[in-house]
Amino acid sequence: MLAGAEGPAPQKAMQIIVALGEIYDAPELVPICSAQVAGVSYKNLGEAGLEFLADWAAQGARVRVPAFMNPAGMDLERWQEMGIASEFAEQQKRVVEILSTMGVVPSCTCTPYLVGYEPRPGEHLAWSESSAASYANSVLAARSNREGGPSALAAAIVGRTACYGLHLARNRVATHVVEVTCQLGDEADFGALGYAVGIQVGEGVPYLRLLGQPTVAPRREMLMALGAAMAASGAVALYHVEGVTPEAGHAVSADRSLPVIEIEDLSEAHAALNSPLDAVDFVTLGCPHSTLEDIQRVASLLAGRKVRTALWITTSRQVRDQAQERGFVESIETAGGQVVADTCLVVSPVEELGFKAMATNSAKAAYYSPAHAKLQRRFGNMAQCIEAAVSGRWSGASDRNLRGRAVLSGRACGSALVSSVAVGFLGGVDPDTGTVIEPGHPLEGRSIAGSVLVFPTGKGSTVGSYTLYRLAKNGLAPAAIVNAHSEAIVAVGAIISGIPMVDQIDISQISTGDWIVIDGEDVRVE
Ligand code: F3S
Repeated sequence: MLAGAEGPAPQKAMQIIVALGEIYDAPELVPICSAQVAGVSYKNLGEAGLEFLADWAAQGARVRVPAFMNPAGMDLERWQEMGIASEFAEQQKRVVEILSTMGVVPSCTCTPYLVGYEPRPGEHLAWSESSAASYANSVLAARSNREGGPSALAAAIVGRTACYGLHLARNRVATHVVEVTCQLGDEADFGALGYAVGIQVGEGVPYLRLLGQPTVAPRREMLMALGAAMAASGAVALYHVEGVTPEAGHAVSADRSLPVIEIEDLSEAHAALNSPLDAVDFVTLGCPHSTLEDIQRVASLLAGRKVRTALWITTSRQVRDQAQERGFVESIETAGGQVVADTCLVVSPVEELGFKAMATNSAKAAYYSPAHAKLQRRFGNMAQCIEAAVSGRWSGASDRNLRGRAVLSGRACGSALVSSVAVGFLGGVDPDTGTVIEPGHPLEGRSIAGSVLVFPTGKGSTVGSYTLYRLAKNGLAPAAIVNAHSEAIVAVGAIISGIPMVDQIDISQISTGDWIVIDGEDVRVE
């Protein structure tokens, strides 16, 4: 191929692969099972990039392994509803056509693992979108370097890549231990953690010990947020989470001492990803591309409500279709939002759509948006973002400090879950699921796990203290409890379970979805 025996297109591809192999001292090439090709958005490619691809395709470039496209610059079917200019749309369609001619599937997503392209452990890949490569390496135990767009395409054309970096077992062990002692309540916390870790470890391989965390494994969406942020603020393509990710068991050994990074608090990371904004005119969720479960959550948060801002939930076309079949798209559209396929905030020409200030639950999108989309931003969890979409304001725009009495002094943070009426634990909360089960209670069906649970006072059976204890043992307790007036059952439950608790607080100042930081007797509402 390198000598041109198969024609100029494979020759050019092999030149790229061999050049990379020489730079990184690769001993050999390794066959790949699939490629994920970035550089699809016309915004990023421009005319020069489009011509480069067109020339390569005209020379006969065709992929030999399954290869799929990263997000494009627009929803390929509903770009007009996004406000995309027709000149841009024409060029974007040409890019997709050219890549399709080469055999690259127009999946247009950074989460191919959600839509049928989940690699098996140990498979060698050439995936180029940084969060996709991170997820494939870290969560699925496949092997890929962070490929550039052209090198992933070249690898797909020759069916091989240079065997260096994360293709080699010796480079997949940890370079840093990260001890995280604060609680991680939601996807925004995981994103903020990824942002902080990425800055500190750069290209390293962090081994995270989530010491302040309940024993339940983080949800898939949280790992997606973590890896995406780490790959944005740093260049992390592989991370391990103790007891969670598949290669963590071999990533550290007693005979190798590693630098230890301690993370006790994420407030600085949250602050770094927030501009001091009050009003927002654009809310975007789905970076990395949304799962079906997240779209369902958005639909339920919007039930019976209308948004004042533009609202995009970005995802792959297949997940959008699944969401449509289940009625979630209709619910979101009825509220005034859009489920946008094939693209995302960062790769679409959003700066030309007139938005000024956005809210997002993605640390990666918050990190890139000022430079890449010319947008100021607010960063918080999904519930906060949906509240912002409905009100047009960021509820934490002016932080408030409330001071009460520490029933059990401690530090914790999380998203507020507020009940206007008393909470009883025995028979009111299921200790095996963390869900409120009291019929007719305003929180019925909601999970209290990891939240800062805010309610006027306790009620019900005196055995409720043990229900809190069982919740804590099951990893399903709230991160903290805030009361207007404490009573003995909840207070004892918090004390024996180690749940920070503050009372004598004006709880009318706290809304569900507010970000709460507890420190001793202080309750900060962000
Ligand atoms: Fe994916 Fe776009 Fe975010 S490609 S990871 S949704 S920046």
